[in-house]
Amino acid sequence: MSKVYQKLETCLNSIRGKTDFQPEVALVLGSGLGDYADEISICQTLDYSQIDGFPTSTVAGHKGRFVFGYVNQLPVVIMQGRVHYYEGYSMTDVVLPTRLMGMLGAKKLILTNAAGGVNPNYTPGDFMLIADHIATAVPSPLIGENLWQLGTRFPDMSEVYSLRMRGIIKGLAVDLGIDLKEGVYVQFTGPGYETPAEIRMCRSWGGDAVGMSTACEAMAARHMGLEVCGISCITNMAAGISSGQLNHNEVQETADRVAGQFKKLITEVIRHI
Ligand code: HPA
Repeated sequence: MSKVYQKLETCLNSIRGKTDFQPEVALVLGSGLGDYADEISICQTLDYSQIDGFPTSTVAGHKGRFVFGYVNQLPVVIMQGRVHYYEGYSMTDVVLPTRLMGMLGAKKLILTNAAGGVNPNYTPGDFMLIADHIATAVPSPLIGENLWQLGTRFPDMSEVYSLRMRGIIKGLAVDLGIDLKEGVYVQFTGPGYETPAEIRMCRSWGGDAVGMSTACEAMAARHMGLEVCGISCITNMAAGISSGQLNHNEVQETADRVAGQFKKLITEVIRHI
Protein backbone atom coordinates (compact mmCIF):
# COMPACT_ATOMS: atom_id res chain seq x y z
CA MET A 1 0.00 0.00 0.00
CA SER A 2 1.33 3.48 -0.79
CA LYS A 3 2.73 5.58 2.04
CA VAL A 4 0.27 8.37 1.21
CA TYR A 5 -2.70 6.01 1.52
CA GLN A 6 -1.29 4.50 4.72
CA LYS A 7 -1.14 7.99 6.22
CA LEU A 8 -4.75 8.63 5.17
CA GLU A 9 -5.83 5.37 6.80
CA THR A 10 -3.96 6.21 10.01
CA CYS A 11 -5.74 9.58 10.17
CA LEU A 12 -9.10 8.06 9.28
CA ASN A 13 -8.79 5.36 11.97
CA SER A 14 -7.80 8.01 14.49
CA ILE A 15 -10.86 10.12 13.61
CA ARG A 16 -13.12 7.07 13.68
CA GLY A 17 -11.83 6.32 17.17
CA LYS A 18 -13.26 9.70 18.21
CA THR A 19 -16.44 10.14 16.16
CA ASP A 20 -18.78 8.13 13.95
CA PHE A 21 -20.22 11.29 12.33
CA GLN A 22 -21.23 10.71 8.70
CA PRO A 23 -21.03 13.96 6.73
CA GLU A 24 -22.82 14.42 3.43
CA VAL A 25 -21.32 17.78 2.59
CA ALA A 26 -17.76 19.00 3.18
CA LEU A 27 -16.91 22.68 3.38
CA VAL A 28 -13.48 24.30 3.30
CA LEU A 29 -13.36 27.75 4.84
CA GLY A 30 -11.14 30.42 3.31
CA SER A 31 -10.08 33.76 4.75
CA GLY A 32 -13.01 35.76 6.03
CA LEU A 33 -15.24 32.74 6.48
CA GLY A 34 -13.12 31.35 9.29
CA ASP A 35 -15.82 31.80 11.92
CA TYR A 36 -18.61 30.34 9.78
CA ALA A 37 -18.52 27.20 11.89
CA ASP A 38 -19.90 29.21 14.83
CA GLU A 39 -23.18 29.56 12.91
CA ILE A 40 -23.95 25.89 12.51
CA SER A 41 -25.25 23.48 15.09
CA ILE A 42 -21.99 21.87 16.16
CA CYS A 43 -21.86 18.23 17.31
CA GLN A 44 -18.14 17.85 17.75
CA THR A 45 -14.81 19.44 16.87
CA LEU A 46 -11.50 17.74 16.32
CA ASP A 47 -8.24 19.71 16.31
CA TYR A 48 -5.88 18.53 13.60
CA SER A 49 -3.32 17.96 16.34
CA GLN A 50 -5.63 15.34 17.90
CA ILE A 51 -5.52 13.23 14.73
CA ASP A 52 -2.68 10.67 14.63
CA GLY A 53 -0.59 11.10 11.50
CA PHE A 54 -2.05 14.46 10.53
CA PRO A 55 0.61 16.70 8.99
CA THR A 56 0.95 19.43 11.60
CA SER A 57 4.58 18.98 12.54
CA THR A 58 6.46 21.04 9.97
CA VAL A 59 5.04 24.44 10.87
CA ALA A 60 5.11 25.57 14.46
CA GLY A 61 1.76 26.63 15.84
CA HIS A 62 -0.25 25.32 12.92
CA LYS A 63 -3.87 25.73 13.87
CA GLY A 64 -6.90 24.08 12.43
CA ARG A 65 -9.71 21.68 13.10
CA PHE A 66 -12.58 19.72 11.68
CA VAL A 67 -16.02 20.81 12.83
CA PHE A 68 -18.85 18.29 12.60
CA GLY A 69 -22.39 19.55 12.71
CA TYR A 70 -25.70 20.18 11.02
CA VAL A 71 -27.00 22.90 8.72
CA ASN A 72 -30.76 22.39 8.52
CA GLN A 73 -30.54 18.69 9.38
CA LEU A 74 -27.83 18.15 6.79
CA PRO A 75 -24.67 16.60 8.25
CA VAL A 76 -21.66 18.74 7.37
CA VAL A 77 -17.93 18.52 8.04
CA ILE A 78 -16.10 21.83 7.97
CA MET A 79 -12.37 22.27 7.50
CA GLN A 80 -11.55 25.31 9.58
CA GLY A 81 -7.95 26.07 8.70
CA ARG A 82 -6.36 24.92 5.48
CA VAL A 83 -3.01 23.35 4.88
CA HIS A 84 -1.18 25.51 2.31
CA TYR A 85 1.62 24.45 -0.01
CA TYR A 86 3.57 27.63 0.87
CA GLU A 87 3.82 26.46 4.46
CA GLY A 88 6.22 23.76 3.31
CA TYR A 89 3.96 20.72 3.20
CA SER A 90 4.04 18.29 0.30
CA MET A 91 1.09 18.50 -2.06
CA THR A 92 -0.17 15.14 -0.82
CA ASP A 93 -0.20 16.54 2.72
CA VAL A 94 -1.92 19.71 1.48
CA VAL A 95 -4.84 17.67 0.13
CA LEU A 96 -4.90 15.12 2.96
CA PRO A 97 -7.71 16.83 4.91
CA THR A 98 -9.82 17.13 1.76
CA ARG A 99 -9.35 13.44 1.03
CA LEU A 100 -10.16 12.59 4.64
CA MET A 101 -13.48 14.42 4.43
CA GLY A 102 -14.30 12.31 1.37
CA MET A 103 -13.25 9.14 3.17
CA LEU A 104 -15.50 10.10 6.10
CA GLY A 105 -18.40 9.93 3.68
CA ALA A 106 -18.88 13.41 2.21
CA LYS A 107 -20.14 13.26 -1.36
CA LYS A 108 -20.14 16.97 -2.09
CA LEU A 109 -17.43 19.54 -1.49
CA ILE A 110 -17.77 23.31 -1.24
CA LEU A 111 -14.47 25.19 -1.49
CA THR A 112 -14.12 28.82 -0.51
CA ASN A 113 -11.16 31.18 -0.61
CA ALA A 114 -9.91 34.74 -0.75
CA ALA A 115 -8.53 35.65 -4.15
CA GLY A 116 -7.03 38.54 -6.06
CA GLY A 117 -9.08 39.90 -8.95
CA VAL A 118 -7.40 39.56 -12.33
CA ASN A 119 -10.47 40.38 -14.41
CA PRO A 120 -10.60 44.20 -14.57
CA ASN A 121 -14.39 44.11 -14.34
CA TYR A 122 -14.17 42.75 -10.79
CA THR A 123 -14.19 44.88 -7.64
CA PRO A 124 -12.88 43.98 -4.19
CA GLY A 125 -15.80 42.52 -2.24
CA ASP A 126 -17.19 40.64 -5.27
CA PHE A 127 -17.84 36.91 -5.11
CA MET A 128 -16.78 34.69 -7.98
CA LEU A 129 -18.21 31.28 -8.69
CA ILE A 130 -15.31 29.14 -9.87
CA ALA A 131 -16.14 27.83 -13.36
CA ASP A 132 -12.77 26.20 -13.93
CA HIS A 133 -9.17 26.48 -12.80
CA ILE A 134 -5.60 26.65 -14.02
CA ALA A 135 -3.19 24.79 -11.74
CA THR A 136 -0.15 24.46 -13.95
CA ALA A 137 1.90 26.74 -11.69
CA VAL A 138 1.74 24.26 -8.80
CA PRO A 139 2.60 20.55 -8.62
CA SER A 140 -0.39 18.23 -9.04
CA PRO A 141 -1.49 16.56 -5.78
CA LEU A 142 -1.97 13.40 -7.85
CA ILE A 143 1.74 13.03 -8.68
CA GLY A 144 3.26 9.83 -7.29
CA GLU A 145 1.93 6.32 -6.94
CA ASN A 146 -1.76 6.36 -7.79
CA LEU A 147 -4.14 5.79 -4.88
CA TRP A 148 -6.30 3.16 -6.53
CA GLN A 149 -8.47 2.98 -3.43
CA LEU A 150 -9.61 6.52 -4.29
CA GLY A 151 -9.55 6.87 -8.05
CA THR A 152 -7.93 6.19 -11.41
CA ARG A 153 -4.44 7.11 -12.62
CA PHE A 154 -5.58 9.60 -15.26
CA PRO A 155 -8.77 11.18 -13.91
CA ASP A 156 -10.94 13.33 -16.16
CA MET A 157 -10.81 17.03 -15.28
CA SER A 158 -13.19 18.38 -17.91
CA GLU A 159 -15.78 19.45 -15.32
CA VAL A 160 -13.99 19.90 -12.01
CA TYR A 161 -16.62 22.39 -10.81
CA SER A 162 -20.04 20.78 -11.17
CA LEU A 163 -22.26 22.36 -13.78
CA ARG A 164 -25.27 21.17 -11.78
CA MET A 165 -24.09 22.89 -8.59
CA ARG A 166 -23.07 26.03 -10.47
CA GLY A 167 -26.58 26.34 -11.89
CA ILE A 168 -28.10 26.07 -8.41
CA ILE A 169 -25.61 28.54 -6.88
CA LYS A 170 -26.25 31.15 -9.59
CA GLY A 171 -29.96 30.92 -8.86
CA LEU A 172 -29.39 31.30 -5.12
CA ALA A 173 -27.23 34.39 -5.68
CA VAL A 174 -30.05 35.99 -7.70
CA ASP A 175 -32.52 35.24 -4.88
CA LEU A 176 -30.15 36.79 -2.33
CA GLY A 177 -29.49 39.84 -4.51
CA ILE A 178 -25.81 39.00 -4.81
CA ASP A 179 -24.04 39.98 -8.03
CA LEU A 180 -22.12 36.70 -8.39
CA LYS A 181 -19.36 36.73 -10.99
CA GLU A 182 -18.23 33.51 -12.64
CA GLY A 183 -14.69 32.88 -13.77
CA VAL A 184 -11.46 30.93 -13.87
CA TYR A 185 -9.30 30.60 -10.73
CA VAL A 186 -5.55 30.39 -11.14
CA GLN A 187 -3.49 28.81 -8.35
CA PHE A 188 0.05 29.95 -7.64
CA THR A 189 2.22 28.71 -4.79
CA GLY A 190 2.59 31.96 -2.88
CA PRO A 191 3.49 33.05 -0.28
CA GLY A 192 4.68 36.11 -2.18
CA TYR A 193 1.92 37.81 -4.09
CA GLU A 194 2.29 37.57 -7.84
CA THR A 195 4.21 40.07 -9.94
CA PRO A 196 2.35 42.30 -12.43
CA ALA A 197 3.92 40.26 -15.26
CA GLU A 198 2.60 37.02 -13.75
CA ILE A 199 -0.84 38.58 -13.50
CA ARG A 200 -0.70 39.69 -17.17
CA MET A 201 0.19 36.08 -17.99
CA CYS A 202 -2.79 34.91 -15.93
CA ARG A 203 -5.07 37.20 -17.84
CA SER A 204 -3.76 36.06 -21.21
CA TRP A 205 -4.25 32.45 -20.08
CA GLY A 206 -7.90 33.23 -19.40
CA GLY A 207 -7.71 33.63 -15.63
CA ASP A 208 -10.13 35.84 -13.69
CA ALA A 209 -8.85 35.45 -10.14
CA VAL A 210 -5.67 34.29 -8.48
CA GLY A 211 -4.93 32.58 -5.19
CA MET A 212 -2.75 30.16 -3.25
CA SER A 213 -5.11 27.23 -2.62
CA THR A 214 -8.24 25.44 -3.81
CA ALA A 215 -7.38 24.07 -7.27
CA CYS A 216 -5.23 21.30 -5.78
CA GLU A 217 -8.01 20.38 -3.34
CA ALA A 218 -10.56 20.36 -6.13
CA MET A 219 -8.35 18.02 -8.17
CA ALA A 220 -7.88 15.59 -5.29
CA ALA A 221 -11.61 15.64 -4.62
CA ARG A 222 -12.48 14.97 -8.27
CA HIS A 223 -9.96 12.14 -8.35
CA MET A 224 -12.00 10.42 -5.65
CA GLY A 225 -15.32 11.22 -7.29
CA LEU A 226 -16.66 14.04 -5.11
CA GLU A 227 -18.92 16.63 -6.69
CA VAL A 228 -17.16 19.97 -6.27
CA CYS A 229 -18.03 23.65 -6.33
CA GLY A 230 -16.01 26.70 -5.34
CA ILE A 231 -16.61 30.34 -4.52
CA SER A 232 -13.90 33.00 -4.26
CA CYS A 233 -14.16 36.22 -2.35
CA ILE A 234 -12.29 38.83 -4.38
CA THR A 235 -10.49 40.63 -1.58
CA ASN A 236 -8.18 42.84 -3.67
CA MET A 237 -7.24 43.51 -7.25
CA ALA A 238 -4.19 41.45 -8.22
CA ALA A 239 -0.74 43.04 -8.66
CA GLY A 240 -0.60 45.58 -11.45
CA ILE A 241 -4.38 45.61 -12.01
CA SER A 242 -4.77 48.49 -9.61
CA SER A 243 -2.00 50.68 -8.31
CA GLY A 244 -0.53 50.26 -4.87
CA GLN A 245 1.07 47.44 -2.99
CA LEU A 246 -0.66 44.30 -1.81
CA ASN A 247 -0.80 43.27 1.79
CA HIS A 248 -2.59 40.69 3.85
CA ASN A 249 -4.41 43.33 5.92
CA GLU A 250 -6.30 44.48 2.83
CA VAL A 251 -7.23 40.88 2.06
CA GLN A 252 -8.48 40.34 5.61
CA GLU A 253 -10.34 43.66 5.79
CA THR A 254 -12.29 43.04 2.58
CA ALA A 255 -13.03 39.45 3.58
CA ASP A 256 -14.32 40.66 6.96
CA ARG A 257 -16.41 43.40 5.33
CA VAL A 258 -18.37 40.98 3.15
CA ALA A 259 -18.28 37.97 5.49
CA GLY A 260 -21.96 38.36 6.44
CA GLN A 261 -23.12 38.09 2.85
CA PHE A 262 -20.66 35.28 2.13
CA LYS A 263 -22.00 33.27 5.09
CA LYS A 264 -25.59 33.73 3.93
CA LEU A 265 -24.68 32.49 0.48
CA ILE A 266 -22.78 29.48 1.84
CA THR A 267 -25.68 28.46 4.10
CA GLU A 268 -28.07 28.55 1.14
CA VAL A 269 -25.59 26.62 -0.97
CA ILE A 270 -25.31 23.89 1.68
CA ARG A 271 -29.08 23.69 1.92
CA HIS A 272 -29.70 23.45 -1.80
CA ILE A 273 -26.91 21.45 -3.36
N1 HPA B 1 -2.87 36.77 -4.96
C1 HPA B 1 -2.80 35.53 -4.46
N2 HPA B 1 -3.56 35.12 -3.46
C2 HPA B 1 -4.44 35.98 -2.93
C3 HPA B 1 -4.56 37.29 -3.40
C4 HPA B 1 -3.73 37.70 -4.48
O1 HPA B 1 -3.78 38.86 -4.97
N3 HPA B 1 -5.54 37.88 -2.66
C5 HPA B 1 -5.98 36.96 -1.78
N4 HPA B 1 -5.31 35.80 -1.93
